[in-house]
Amino acid sequence: MATAPQPPTHEWTGASGDNWVLHQQRLDLMLDAFGDAAIDAAAIAPGEHVLDIGCGAGATSFALAARAGPGGHVLGVDISPQLIARAEAGTPAGSPVAFRLADAATAALPPATFDLLFSRFGVMFFDDPVAAFAHMRAALKPGGRVAFACWRTPAENDWVRLPMTAIRDRVAPPATDPLAPGPFAFADPARIGAILTAAGFADIGVAPFDATIPYGEGATRDAAIDDALNLALAVGPLSRALAGQDDDIRAEAAAAVRAAFARQPGETSILIGGAAWIVTARAG
Ligand SMILES: C[S@@+](CC[C@H](N)C(=O)[O-])C[C@H]1O[C@@H](n2cnc3c(N)ncnc32)[C@H](O)[C@@H]1O
Repeated sequence: MATAPQPPTHEWTGASGDNWVLHQQRLDLMLDAFGDAAIDAAAIAPGEHVLDIGCGAGATSFALAARAGPGGHVLGVDISPQLIARAEAGTPAGSPVAFRLADAATAALPPATFDLLFSRFGVMFFDDPVAAFAHMRAALKPGGRVAFACWRTPAENDWVRLPMTAIRDRVAPPATDPLAPGPFAFADPARIGAILTAAGFADIGVAPFDATIPYGEGATRDAAIDDALNLALAVGPLSRALAGQDDDIRAEAAAAVRAAFARQPGETSILIGGAAWIVTARAG
């Protein structure tokens, strides 16, 4: 059995960033419900200033700006040049949104400026999450808030569990440290609480949020299954598990994943379960 390679350290500045840009519209559709839940939990008031951490192509920055209104402002930061370029290109003229290519863990941020630190699936990639959150907390006004969405465990997320189970006889699962930076680094709610407490936050809330993800898109069910497979092969844990594998192993794995997706409901998208935490806290 082949062994899955480890993801490169700064994948977001390379292939992952490229693929995220390529598939951005479908990824936004898939993640919409989770972002909306985190935005609702943030309870933004008109005129507020928001930092959108790991903002990607900016979908949530634009949604946050709509809630903050003309007197508010949103700064989106991301380490991926490709995604920041996409976000800037998509910014409507006059929108109170700015984007910055920066590592949120270390970027020079204006002190005591933001009412809210927000993120949709962008805060699980810090090497030292306590230091990163403490650094970002200094940019919050006194009593400022944090609200973000992060994934629960792979076992609870069928969009990962189904494809990874389908390939497990062909490709050994990567020997990943569950605490290492990555999409599931915040799966343990006790760890989230410990990180935020150590970084100086209080009133921490960690609420489960489940949603059906419309995975892939197509005019027919067959086209939707093919698209879901292509998406899974391009972005996320399956793509990392198969990167660098021989063509015959990739082809066998792809056929097995396609069969798993074909067992899911859905006509123009494959409907598949996702499980996140919606996390809220206040600067202590
Ligand atoms: C899963 S994507 C989510 C993107 C976006 N929030 C969305 O929901 O569409 C994670 C994002 O976090 C960004 N990211 C990872 N580490 C970062 C860091 N240290 N500082 C800023 N952005 C980071 C990546 O470049 C990527 O755009």
